[in-house]
Amino acid sequence: MSNPSRLGHLLGIESLSREQIQSLLSLGTSYAAPGAPQRQTTLAGKTIITLFFENSTRTRTSFEIAARRLGADVISIATTASSTAKGETMMDTALNLEAMAPDAIVVRHSKSGTAHLLSRHLQCAIINAGDGQHEHPSQALLDAATIAAHKGSFEGLQVAIVGYLQHSRVARSNVMCLTKLGCHVRLCAPHSLMPAGMDELGVVDGQRRASLHYTLQDALTDADVVMALRVQTERLGDTPRIADAAAYAAQYGISARAMAFAKPDAIIMHPGPVNRGVELTADIADSSRSVILEQVSMGVAMRMAILHQLLGAAA
Ligand code: CP
Repeated sequence: MSNPSRLGHLLGIESLSREQIQSLLSLGTSYAAPGAPQRQTTLAGKTIITLFFENSTRTRTSFEIAARRLGADVISIATTASSTAKGETMMDTALNLEAMAPDAIVVRHSKSGTAHLLSRHLQCAIINAGDGQHEHPSQALLDAATIAAHKGSFEGLQVAIVGYLQHSRVARSNVMCLTKLGCHVRLCAPHSLMPAGMDELGVVDGQRRASLHYTLQDALTDADVVMALRVQTERLGDTPRIADAAAYAAQYGISARAMAFAKPDAIIMHPGPVNRGVELTADIADSSRSVILEQVSMGVAMRMAILHQLLGAAA
Protein backbone atom coordinates (compact mmCIF):
# COMPACT_ATOMS: atom_id res chain seq x y z
CA MET A 1 0.00 0.00 0.00
CA SER A 2 1.80 3.13 -1.16
CA ASN A 3 -0.95 5.71 -0.95
CA PRO A 4 -2.10 6.97 2.47
CA SER A 5 -5.38 8.01 0.84
CA ARG A 6 -6.39 4.34 0.96
CA LEU A 7 -6.34 4.67 4.72
CA GLY A 8 -9.00 7.37 4.46
CA HIS A 9 -7.54 9.34 7.38
CA LEU A 10 -4.23 10.56 8.76
CA LEU A 11 -4.40 9.50 12.41
CA GLY A 12 -0.77 8.87 13.23
CA ILE A 13 2.66 7.81 12.02
CA GLU A 14 2.29 4.44 13.73
CA SER A 15 -0.09 3.16 11.06
CA LEU A 16 1.94 4.45 8.10
CA SER A 17 4.46 2.27 6.29
CA ARG A 18 7.89 3.55 5.28
CA GLU A 19 6.65 3.64 1.67
CA GLN A 20 3.62 5.73 2.58
CA ILE A 21 5.81 8.18 4.50
CA GLN A 22 8.23 8.40 1.57
CA SER A 23 5.34 9.02 -0.83
CA LEU A 24 4.09 11.90 1.31
CA LEU A 25 7.61 13.33 1.65
CA SER A 26 8.14 13.16 -2.09
CA LEU A 27 4.92 15.06 -2.82
CA GLY A 28 5.58 17.57 -0.02
CA THR A 29 9.09 18.20 -1.31
CA SER A 30 7.68 18.92 -4.77
CA TYR A 31 5.31 21.51 -3.27
CA ALA A 32 8.27 23.08 -1.40
CA ALA A 33 10.49 23.30 -4.50
CA PRO A 34 11.45 26.78 -5.71
CA GLY A 35 9.04 27.85 -8.44
CA ALA A 36 6.35 25.31 -7.48
CA PRO A 37 2.89 26.73 -8.30
CA GLN A 38 1.38 28.42 -5.23
CA ARG A 39 -2.22 28.16 -6.49
CA GLN A 40 -3.78 24.93 -7.67
CA THR A 41 -7.24 23.53 -8.29
CA THR A 42 -6.47 20.00 -7.05
CA LEU A 43 -9.05 20.29 -4.26
CA ALA A 44 -11.51 22.66 -5.96
CA GLY A 45 -15.01 21.95 -4.66
CA LYS A 46 -13.73 20.29 -1.46
CA THR A 47 -14.54 21.67 1.99
CA ILE A 48 -12.11 21.31 4.88
CA ILE A 49 -12.95 22.18 8.48
CA THR A 50 -10.23 22.93 11.03
CA LEU A 51 -11.52 22.12 14.53
CA PHE A 52 -9.01 23.02 17.22
CA PHE A 53 -9.86 22.47 20.88
CA GLU A 54 -6.31 23.50 21.83
CA ASN A 55 -4.32 26.59 20.86
CA SER A 56 -2.26 26.57 17.71
CA THR A 57 -0.37 29.05 15.56
CA ARG A 58 1.63 26.93 13.12
CA THR A 59 -0.44 23.78 12.54
CA ARG A 60 -3.79 25.41 12.09
CA THR A 61 -2.57 28.30 9.95
CA SER A 62 -0.49 26.07 7.71
CA PHE A 63 -3.32 23.55 7.19
CA GLU A 64 -5.58 26.44 6.21
CA ILE A 65 -3.02 27.97 3.84
CA ALA A 66 -2.31 24.53 2.37
CA ALA A 67 -6.00 23.85 1.76
CA ARG A 68 -6.53 27.25 0.10
CA ARG A 69 -3.46 26.83 -2.10
CA LEU A 70 -5.00 23.59 -3.35
CA GLY A 71 -8.28 25.36 -4.15
CA ALA A 72 -10.38 24.00 -1.25
CA ASP A 73 -12.88 25.96 0.83
CA VAL A 74 -11.79 26.21 4.47
CA ILE A 75 -13.97 26.70 7.52
CA SER A 76 -12.17 27.42 10.77
CA ILE A 77 -13.95 26.59 14.04
CA ALA A 78 -12.67 28.44 17.08
CA THR A 79 -14.03 26.27 19.88
CA THR A 80 -14.05 29.16 22.32
CA ALA A 81 -16.56 30.89 20.01
CA SER A 82 -18.54 27.74 19.15
CA SER A 83 -21.30 25.89 20.97
CA THR A 84 -18.74 23.78 22.83
CA ALA A 85 -18.56 26.84 25.09
CA LYS A 86 -22.28 26.20 25.84
CA GLY A 87 -21.62 22.63 26.92
CA GLU A 88 -21.93 20.71 23.62
CA THR A 89 -19.74 17.60 23.65
CA MET A 90 -16.81 17.19 21.31
CA MET A 91 -18.60 14.30 19.55
CA ASP A 92 -21.85 16.25 19.10
CA THR A 93 -19.89 19.19 17.72
CA ALA A 94 -18.12 16.91 15.25
CA LEU A 95 -21.34 15.12 14.19
CA ASN A 96 -23.07 18.45 13.62
CA LEU A 97 -20.17 19.69 11.52
CA GLU A 98 -20.22 16.49 9.50
CA ALA A 99 -23.93 17.01 8.82
CA MET A 100 -22.81 19.98 6.71
CA ALA A 101 -20.90 17.56 4.44
CA PRO A 102 -17.23 18.55 4.72
CA ASP A 103 -14.67 16.38 2.97
CA ALA A 104 -12.23 16.48 5.88
CA ILE A 105 -11.96 17.63 9.47
CA VAL A 106 -8.54 18.57 10.83
CA VAL A 107 -8.80 18.13 14.59
CA ARG A 108 -6.64 18.96 17.61
CA HIS A 109 -7.72 17.98 21.11
CA SER A 110 -6.11 17.60 24.52
CA LYS A 111 -7.36 13.99 24.84
CA SER A 112 -5.26 11.23 23.30
CA GLY A 113 -7.30 9.16 20.83
CA THR A 114 -9.70 11.93 19.75
CA ALA A 115 -8.86 11.65 16.06
CA HIS A 116 -9.21 7.86 16.16
CA LEU A 117 -12.57 8.20 17.92
CA LEU A 118 -13.88 10.62 15.28
CA SER A 119 -12.64 8.37 12.48
CA ARG A 120 -14.85 5.57 13.82
CA HIS A 121 -18.00 7.71 13.95
CA LEU A 122 -17.68 10.13 10.99
CA GLN A 123 -17.64 9.44 7.26
CA CYS A 124 -15.34 12.30 6.21
CA ALA A 125 -11.53 12.13 6.32
CA ILE A 126 -10.07 12.86 9.75
CA ILE A 127 -6.63 14.44 10.06
CA ASN A 128 -4.96 14.36 13.46
CA ALA A 129 -3.44 17.78 14.20
CA GLY A 130 -2.33 16.64 17.66
CA ASP A 131 -4.16 14.45 20.19
CA GLY A 132 -3.10 14.81 23.80
CA GLN A 133 0.21 13.14 24.42
CA HIS A 134 -0.29 10.58 21.64
CA GLU A 135 0.66 11.74 18.12
CA HIS A 136 1.24 14.80 15.93
CA PRO A 137 1.81 13.14 12.56
CA SER A 138 1.93 16.19 10.31
CA GLN A 139 4.63 17.70 12.54
CA ALA A 140 6.78 14.57 12.21
CA LEU A 141 6.32 14.57 8.44
CA LEU A 142 7.35 18.22 8.08
CA ASP A 143 10.31 17.59 10.40
CA ALA A 144 11.42 14.65 8.25
CA ALA A 145 11.08 16.73 5.08
CA THR A 146 13.17 19.51 6.66
CA ILE A 147 15.87 17.01 7.66
CA ALA A 148 15.89 15.56 4.14
CA ALA A 149 16.26 19.04 2.65
CA HIS A 150 19.49 19.49 4.66
CA LYS A 151 20.91 16.00 4.91
CA GLY A 152 19.82 14.38 1.65
CA SER A 153 19.06 10.94 3.05
CA PHE A 154 18.01 9.48 6.39
CA GLU A 155 19.99 6.26 6.53
CA GLY A 156 22.36 6.27 9.49
CA LEU A 157 21.60 9.83 10.62
CA GLN A 158 21.92 10.38 14.36
CA VAL A 159 19.02 12.53 15.57
CA ALA A 160 18.95 13.77 19.18
CA ILE A 161 15.50 14.71 20.55
CA VAL A 162 15.98 16.62 23.76
CA GLY A 163 13.80 17.87 26.60
CA TYR A 164 10.24 17.38 27.68
CA LEU A 165 9.64 13.85 26.42
CA GLN A 166 7.09 12.82 29.05
CA HIS A 167 3.93 14.09 27.33
CA SER A 168 5.37 14.87 23.91
CA ARG A 169 3.23 13.82 20.95
CA VAL A 170 5.85 15.47 18.71
CA ALA A 171 8.56 13.20 20.10
CA ARG A 172 6.42 10.06 19.80
CA SER A 173 5.53 10.74 16.15
CA ASN A 174 9.11 11.72 15.32
CA VAL A 175 10.64 8.59 16.86
CA MET A 176 8.33 6.39 14.79
CA CYS A 177 8.74 8.43 11.60
CA LEU A 178 12.51 8.89 11.69
CA THR A 179 13.35 5.33 12.71
CA LYS A 180 11.10 3.94 9.95
CA LEU A 181 13.10 6.10 7.53
CA GLY A 182 16.46 4.71 8.75
CA CYS A 183 17.64 7.24 11.37
CA HIS A 184 18.84 6.39 14.85
CA VAL A 185 17.02 8.55 17.42
CA ARG A 186 18.64 9.44 20.76
CA LEU A 187 16.05 10.48 23.32
CA CYS A 188 17.42 12.77 26.03
CA ALA A 189 15.61 14.03 29.14
CA PRO A 190 15.94 14.12 32.91
CA HIS A 191 14.76 10.89 34.52
CA SER A 192 11.59 12.67 35.71
CA LEU A 193 10.59 13.50 32.11
CA MET A 194 11.63 10.26 30.39
CA PRO A 195 8.66 7.94 29.73
CA ALA A 196 9.48 4.32 30.47
CA GLY A 197 10.06 2.28 27.33
CA MET A 198 9.93 5.20 24.91
CA ASP A 199 12.83 3.70 22.96
CA GLU A 200 10.55 0.79 22.06
CA LEU A 201 8.72 3.12 19.67
CA GLY A 202 11.89 2.98 17.60
CA VAL A 203 11.98 -0.78 17.06
CA VAL A 204 11.78 -1.36 13.30
CA ASP A 205 11.91 -4.84 11.75
CA GLY A 206 13.19 -6.17 15.08
CA GLN A 207 16.03 -3.60 15.24
CA ARG A 208 16.14 -1.05 18.07
CA ARG A 209 16.82 2.31 16.41
CA ALA A 210 16.21 4.54 19.43
CA SER A 211 18.16 4.88 22.67
CA LEU A 212 17.73 6.69 26.00
CA HIS A 213 20.19 9.32 27.26
CA TYR A 214 20.28 11.51 30.34
CA THR A 215 23.00 14.06 29.55
CA LEU A 216 23.41 16.41 26.60
CA GLN A 217 26.99 15.26 26.09
CA ASP A 218 25.85 11.67 25.76
CA ALA A 219 22.97 12.53 23.41
CA LEU A 220 24.59 15.19 21.24
CA THR A 221 28.07 13.77 20.63
CA ASP A 222 28.47 13.56 16.84
CA ALA A 223 24.72 14.09 16.28
CA ASP A 224 23.59 15.20 12.80
CA VAL A 225 20.33 16.75 14.00
CA VAL A 226 19.42 18.27 17.38
CA MET A 227 15.71 18.72 18.03
CA ALA A 228 14.68 20.57 21.19
CA LEU A 229 11.18 20.13 22.59
CA ARG A 230 8.96 22.71 24.26
CA VAL A 231 8.49 22.46 28.01
CA GLN A 232 4.71 21.90 28.10
CA THR A 233 3.76 23.61 31.34
CA GLU A 234 0.07 23.00 30.53
CA ARG A 235 0.64 19.23 30.76
CA LEU A 236 2.86 19.21 33.86
CA GLY A 237 -0.17 18.84 36.15
CA ASP A 238 -0.10 19.27 39.89
CA THR A 239 3.18 17.46 40.40
CA PRO A 240 5.97 19.64 39.02
CA ARG A 241 8.59 17.48 37.34
CA ILE A 242 10.87 20.47 36.85
CA ALA A 243 11.75 21.94 40.25
CA ASP A 244 13.96 24.70 38.93
CA ALA A 245 13.61 26.13 35.38
CA ALA A 246 17.08 27.67 35.47
CA ALA A 247 18.68 24.37 36.49
CA TYR A 248 16.69 22.59 33.75
CA ALA A 249 17.90 25.11 31.15
CA ALA A 250 21.50 24.72 32.34
CA GLN A 251 21.34 20.92 32.03
CA TYR A 252 19.04 20.42 29.02
CA GLY A 253 18.85 23.75 27.20
CA ILE A 254 20.56 23.79 23.80
CA SER A 255 23.37 26.35 23.87
CA ALA A 256 26.50 26.95 21.81
CA ARG A 257 28.39 24.95 24.45
CA ALA A 258 26.02 21.99 24.03
CA MET A 259 26.14 22.21 20.23
CA ALA A 260 29.93 21.84 20.39
CA PHE A 261 29.30 18.13 21.08
CA ALA A 262 27.37 17.71 17.81
CA LYS A 263 28.80 17.47 14.31
CA PRO A 264 29.93 20.85 12.92
CA ASP A 265 27.16 20.72 10.29
CA ALA A 266 24.44 19.60 12.70
CA ILE A 267 21.14 21.42 12.31
CA ILE A 268 18.96 22.66 15.18
CA MET A 269 15.21 22.09 15.16
CA HIS A 270 12.25 22.94 17.40
CA PRO A 271 8.53 22.38 16.64
CA GLY A 272 7.57 25.69 18.26
CA PRO A 273 6.49 27.61 20.13
CA VAL A 274 9.97 28.22 21.54
CA ASN A 275 10.55 29.26 25.14
CA ARG A 276 13.74 31.22 24.59
CA GLY A 277 16.26 30.76 27.36
CA VAL A 278 14.66 27.46 28.42
CA GLU A 279 14.79 24.94 25.56
CA LEU A 280 17.21 26.99 23.44
CA THR A 281 19.39 30.00 24.06
CA ALA A 282 18.37 32.95 21.88
CA ASP A 283 21.68 32.95 19.99
CA ILE A 284 21.17 29.29 19.05
CA ALA A 285 17.52 29.82 18.05
CA ASP A 286 18.62 32.62 15.70
CA SER A 287 21.85 31.02 14.49
CA SER A 288 22.62 29.93 10.93
CA ARG A 289 22.34 26.29 12.10
CA SER A 290 18.74 26.80 13.20
CA VAL A 291 16.14 25.55 10.70
CA ILE A 292 13.14 26.41 12.90
CA LEU A 293 11.51 28.77 10.41
CA GLU A 294 12.26 26.37 7.55
CA GLN A 295 10.24 23.79 9.50
CA VAL A 296 7.33 26.24 9.53
CA SER A 297 7.58 26.85 5.78
CA MET A 298 7.85 23.12 5.14
CA GLY A 299 4.69 22.71 7.20
CA VAL A 300 2.62 24.31 4.46
CA ALA A 301 4.12 22.09 1.74
CA MET A 302 3.74 18.88 3.76
CA ARG A 303 0.16 19.70 4.69
CA MET A 304 -0.58 20.32 1.00
CA ALA A 305 0.79 16.82 0.37
CA ILE A 306 -1.35 15.32 3.15
CA LEU A 307 -4.54 16.99 1.91
CA HIS A 308 -3.75 16.10 -1.71
CA GLN A 309 -3.15 12.43 -0.94
CA LEU A 310 -6.24 12.15 1.24
CA LEU A 311 -8.69 14.14 -0.89
CA GLY A 312 -7.19 14.48 -4.39
CA ALA A 313 -8.73 12.94 -7.49
CA ALA A 314 -6.44 9.89 -7.42
CA ALA A 315 -7.54 9.11 -3.87
N1 CP B 1 4.31 22.75 16.40
C1 CP B 1 3.02 23.04 16.66
O1 CP B 1 2.17 22.16 16.75
O2 CP B 1 2.77 24.38 16.79
P1 CP B 1 1.32 24.97 17.08
O3 CP B 1 0.92 24.53 18.46
O4 CP B 1 1.49 26.47 16.99
O5 CP B 1 0.37 24.44 16.05
